[in-house]
Amino acid sequence: MKVTCAKLEVIVRNCRREDLPRVYEINLKAFSQPHQMVEFSWFYEMEPSGTYIAVDKNRNKIIGFVFGVYRPVFFYLEKADIKDGWIPLIAVDPEYQKRGIGTLLMQTIEEYLRSKGAKEVKVEVRENNTGALEYYNKIGFEIHKKIPNYYFDGENGIVMKKNLQKKIDIQMKLKPRYTSCIKCGSFNIRYKVPFLLDLNCECEDCGCVWPVVFEEKIK
Ligand SMILES: CC(C)(COP(=O)(O)OP(=O)(O)OC[C@H]1O[C@@H](n2cnc3c(N)ncnc32)[C@H](O)[C@@H]1OP(=O)(O)O)[C@@H](O)C(=O)NCCC(=O)NCCS
Ligand SMILES: [Zn+2]
Repeated sequence: MKVTCAKLEVIVRNCRREDLPRVYEINLKAFSQPHQMVEFSWFYEMEPSGTYIAVDKNRNKIIGFVFGVYRPVFFYLEKADIKDGWIPLIAVDPEYQKRGIGTLLMQTIEEYLRSKGAKEVKVEVRENNTGALEYYNKIGFEIHKKIPNYYFDGENGIVMKKNLQKKIDIQMKLKPRYTSCIKCGSFNIRYKVPFLLDLNCECEDCGCVWPVVFEEKIK
């Protein structure tokens, strides 16, 4: 049976300070052990250019976030062996999960970290968070190490790592709606993440640039 899903237009842009309360709210919905508000403020102030949110354009609603850091300086990260790219916070609103948004956020942060010169990216995951472990595995991460009692409540941590030097193609669930240039009709379109702006299409023939509009693939 063929089912056409409702259209979902998503844009990814940098997080702003005023977005933090909604980002925190998603964190409360998405995690069984949510992060503290202060963590969002820390990482935001540390590297605002490495924080991104996904927005449902039609409902003007923030539906996911990723906070990334290039060259983190915290001493405790030695335990996780983190050297350059690090993702301390990522989640998608449960109402919007499994529709490719997590993949889109990850592609954006990887592109950002790569642009800063990061050679790899690491994340820590709770050992019982099998959904997230599966997600990281699907998008090209590998287990780097296990750290006993990593979390304050005694749970073990799994450090996952991805090499940013070899680009791994990820099958996107969301497909860009435009297949040809909206101005000259050419099929030479590249997708770009210009930081501080939305994800863009750029026509290689006439040079015009416009925001990507995504729609869900028909299942
Ligand atoms: C992990 C998370 C960010 C994934 O976001 P998402 O938008 O659902 O991810 P995507 O739709 O892009 O999924 C990408 C792939 O991972 C798989 N995946 C995602 N969540 C999964 C889950 N809970 N269980 C198994 N597989 C999962 C998807 O099926 C998809 O694989 P496919 O292309 O073969 O179908 C989201 O589930 C979440 O916010 N979880 C709670 C917070 C959390 O655990 N964050 C990580 C902490 S380290
Ligand atoms: Zn053109």
